[in-house]
Amino acid sequence: MDEQMFTAVDAFVEETLVSHDEALRGALDAAEAAGLPQIQVSPPQGKLLQMLAQMLGARTLLEFGTLGGYSTILLARALPEGGRLITLEASAEYAEVARGSIERAGLGEVVELRVGPALETLPALEDEGAGPFDLTFIDADKVNTPNYFAWALDHSHPGSLIVADNVVRGGTLAETASDDPATRAQRRLHEMLAEEPRVTATTIQTVGGKGYDGFTIALVR
Ligand code: SAH
Ligand code: DHB
Ligand code: MG
Repeated sequence: MDEQMFTAVDAFVEETLVSHDEALRGALDAAEAAGLPQIQVSPPQGKLLQMLAQMLGARTLLEFGTLGGYSTILLARALPEGGRLITLEASAEYAEVARGSIERAGLGEVVELRVGPALETLPALEDEGAGPFDLTFIDADKVNTPNYFAWALDHSHPGSLIVADNVVRGGTLAETASDDPATRAQRRLHEMLAEEPRVTATTIQTVGGKGYDGFTIALVR
């Protein structure tokens, strides 16, 4: 493994293909200044999410895990006029930082940020009849990825995509006997996907500045 090389390639791809304007740079700077963990999606992965939303012609997006709003801004920018993104964040402190960056990106009317552990904020979404969502990005607490997937699937339609980040976790996904709850959750996610007739799915491994990980993409039939 050569992390330095992975980081350099991500940086080159970012420079050439992922134009970071003031709002995106500002979101990363504000998050760093506020001491948020730097665990946002890599620029190339963020660009992929944006392109997936564009390919779908997505109008309704759901995100689990806002952090400083970096992936939120990339995704929201894929929306057409009138499109909406709901993003769920447990930390009031992170949400405050994200809110500022989302506003500065001119997306205050497009993005709705709900604060609280997602399993506690989902029932209100349910009551309001939210969804179906064209694309859901799951990137919050990893132990709950299977729960978020189940909710997202029930609030999808044929053609929806559900993307889950951080499923490979340094390769531990392949450890049959892992006792790490987050790893077990990713294995459980894969078992759910395998048994679920409503989706077809795959998992792609990634390397980059954040090391070795990967993401799952599930397409709702
Ligand atoms: N999607 C972001 C990164 C998210 S990092 C990006 O790529 O820019 C994971 C986020 O999930 C953190 O901000 C963390 O506070 C949040 N989180 C953790 N547990 C959560 C929960 N139960 N509900 C909602 N968000 C949660
Ligand atoms: C963590 C969360 C993420 O979403 C990520 O991409 C990397 C790390 C974490 O909680 O450590
Ligand atoms: Mg992530």
